Amino acid sequence: MTQTATQTQQRTVRVWDPWVRISHWLTAGAFFGAYFITEDNLPVHVWLGYLIGALLLVRIVWGFVGTEHARFRDFLFGPRRIFAYLGELLGGHPRRYLGHNPAGAAMIYLLLIGLAGTTVTGLQVYAAEEKAGPLAGWYAGAGLIQWPTAHANGYEEEEEEEDGHEAAEEHEESEEAEALEEWHEFFANATLALVGLHVLGVIVSSRLHRENLPRAMITGRKAPVKEDDKA
Ligand code: HEM
Repeated sequence: MTQTATQTQQRTVRVWDPWVRISHWLTAGAFFGAYFITEDNLPVHVWLGYLIGALLLVRIVWGFVGTEHARFRDFLFGPRRIFAYLGELLGGHPRRYLGHNPAGAAMIYLLLIGLAGTTVTGLQVYAAEEKAGPLAGWYAGAGLIQWPTAHANGYEEEEEEEDGHEAAEEHEESEEAEALEEWHEFFANATLALVGLHVLGVIVSSRLHRENLPRAMITGRKAPVKEDDKA
């Protein structure tokens, strides 16, 4: 006998609200987009970065005021619980959670930190190298306050000295920009590695619990937790 959509819905419960699902897939798409579109199309890279930053800020607020399983307090587990869960996982019988499981939750915090680090260092690089973006004022060379220069009082010697200072400052600036760029790349690559582990975790969990977690991140629904789900 075939089951109707309503019958299937009755056997599942709503877990992920629409905002969690939309922001998840938008973040994933924007991250991959920004990772592969770099200097060859900087405006697109920067706008994808802004999108990730905005989604991240809203997700953090949602973690305090959002729906049950979106709230941080729903997936805040101590190291003991995380390691116990990893033990259950190795034993092949992990306890099933309706929201994020302890290992998945730890990974989500790492992903959020990775994304935040990538976004902030991206804004810094953009400011230091292109003198653009919201942090541009912090990397304007002379700082936020523009002091009067030798041009204003006409002393040639001071002007030469000033030129020397400017060259030294520019050198320091470019060194700073390079260091920032390295940090930006580090965070982006670390986040990509975390995404790999995250997807692996999703596949392993889906297999062990015989459920399709990526589909749940699309429909928002999962089978309810039963007594025999527990380890
Ligand atoms: C750049 C890529 C990705 C990033 C940054 C990312 C990040 C995240 C984050 C932050 C969450 C927590 C969702 C929330 O509570 O708001 C999450 C959950 C989830 N992600 Fe991803 N994700 C990425 C790619 C993927 C891909 C490709 C898949 C599909 C295989 C996937 C499947 C899932 C699933 C199923 C969950 C829910 C896990 C659970 O049931 O506990 N993610 N992801």
